[in-house]
Amino acid sequence: MTMTDPAQQETLGDLLAAGAPHVNADLDRWLVEPRVPQTLADGMRYCTRGGKRLRPAMVGLAAEACEGSVDAEPVRRAAVAVEMIHAYSLVHDDLPAMDDDALRRGQPTAHVKFGEAMAILIGDALLTRALGLLAATPAPTAGRLAAELATGAGPAGMVGGQVADMDLCDLPPGREGLQYTHRRKTGALLRAAARMGAVAAEASQADLAAVTGYAEHIGLAFQVIDDVLDATGTAKQLGKTPGKDVEAGKRTYVTELGQNAAGELSDRLTREALDALQPLGSRGTRLAALACRLCQRTH
Ligand code: IPE
Ligand code: IPE
Ligand code: MG
Ligand code: MG
Ligand code: MG
Repeated sequence: MTMTDPAQQETLGDLLAAGAPHVNADLDRWLVEPRVPQTLADGMRYCTRGGKRLRPAMVGLAAEACEGSVDAEPVRRAAVAVEMIHAYSLVHDDLPAMDDDALRRGQPTAHVKFGEAMAILIGDALLTRALGLLAATPAPTAGRLAAELATGAGPAGMVGGQVADMDLCDLPPGREGLQYTHRRKTGALLRAAARMGAVAAEASQADLAAVTGYAEHIGLAFQVIDDVLDATGTAKQLGKTPGKDVEAGKRTYVTELGQNAAGELSDRLTREALDALQPLGSRGTRLAALACRLCQRTH
């Protein structure tokens, strides 16, 4: 892709680490409360290991772009909470009743490892713990952070998108239906992550709007690329089973547009994400670099 690429020296790994430097330590600290059954605690830990940590990084980089800090407690809690919701969504997405997947982040999926009942309950536990953690944030923004996460993850966001993905509702016809699904099942949580970063940083309305516009484009692009990688990647590279979408007869951006046009669409969405960052000036440099790296990702 030919576009001006800021922060050229930073790789995707560098940007993800810079955006979420505390996420693993904070997960160790905050994931499991006292008095949780040991088997459930073990399952929650297993299902939150690995992964790119994109959503926590989105929280941190959005906070920084709005003159906040990745070290601030509200930012750290938001980063952990959104990763817990993401992990829960993967556990449930992989269940036999949904995508029926056996491999996730290079490991057996939760239901393969712990059984189906425990996998459902691990998802429930991650979801409720995430919202509890945010609601208890020692800052005036606690309620807003929890509301942002609930909106992104809930019926009008990710869960609604999964309903659409599983063909359990009427969808708008044509490409609009696909966009409806992808914006919700994947885009909504990335949007929430960016907005939580901005809210935790007590951003101005203008900065919040810029970060939101950016994340909406990135969110759709991310799932377009996920569809392409499902068709082109290997299990080793992805840490999950490729070819699942074709096997399940899913409608994806690859079936809809073909691989090349899907790639062009993710390039266009990335350029639109960069445009949305303009009002932030140089504060948007790292978010812009993240968009460019994600567009070229291979896992
Ligand atoms: C996979 O997300 C599921 C989608 C929403 C496309 P990621 O590709 O971010 O998965 P991890 O967190 O790196 O495992
Ligand atoms: C993921 O969509 C959406 C959510 C987990 C909410 P996919 O079903 O395409 O994700 P992968 O490919 O299994 O990671
Ligand atoms: Mg799915
Ligand atoms: Mg899946
Ligand atoms: Mg997929």
